[in-house]
Amino acid sequence: MDIREALYTTRAMRRVRPDPVPLDTQARILDAAIRAPSGGNSQNWRFLLLDDPSVIGRIGPLYRDSIDQLWRTVYADRLARAEAEPDAPDSVELRKVQASAQWLADHFEEVPLYLFAFVQSDPTGGSIFPAVWSAQLAARAEGVGSSITSVLGFFHPVETLDILGVPREDGWRMACCVSFGYPTGRWGVARRRPVHEVSFRNAWGTPVGFEVAEPLWPDPV
Ligand SMILES: Cc1cc2nc3c(=O)[nH]c(=O)nc-3n(C[C@H](O)[C@H](O)[C@H](O)COP(=O)(O)O)c2cc1C
Repeated sequence: MDIREALYTTRAMRRVRPDPVPLDTQARILDAAIRAPSGGNSQNWRFLLLDDPSVIGRIGPLYRDSIDQLWRTVYADRLARAEAEPDAPDSVELRKVQASAQWLADHFEEVPLYLFAFVQSDPTGGSIFPAVWSAQLAARAEGVGSSITSVLGFFHPVETLDILGVPREDGWRMACCVSFGYPTGRWGVARRRPVHEVSFRNAWGTPVGFEVAEPLWPDPV
């Protein structure tokens, strides 16, 4: 697959079928992920693939509780605004994300594969998220959808580490949990604020020097 197609179309694909992801596909995803950079090439990371239904079944309730808490805390104001102004574009977008995230919570046990990423001594996450995103791009190339999630780490870190048997004394921190599976929907270009609205040149606030009204992939014909 063209790298630009993967970059433009790797979305949060939470709605997936229960079909297993074959081991050789998993191997290609993780082997690509560990090519990513880390500070000083320390590779101070561990990856835990989870496909055992009995373990997924223990984490599912924690995940659902985390998502419930997320809506009631971090997202409470934004959701209230979306309810007050349901037709505003931001509200429509937020409700789409909420519906998709809630789907994953409600169907946590039906997702065939999760990847938990752990890191030591990396407060910024700069040495783990490149590898995680590489795993998601590699999965995209295999036709496997994925979504990074962080709520378990916010709301139930200790219980999750215990269920997964992570040795606490070694200082391993859970960076995220990524869901994987074959998507039920179709791939599309990720909608984002255009680059010229979020970029500057030489000094904060100075225009970047170009405007990109529409995504630059696929190439215009
Ligand atoms: C650091 C980080 C944490 C995230 N945590 C969650 C999460 O806990 N649950 C979830 O469903 N999605 C989570 N997401 C996924 C985002 O909601 C998603 O990437 C964003 O809405 C863009 O989706 P799109 O690529 O489909 O447009 C997270 C993404 C990032 C980068």
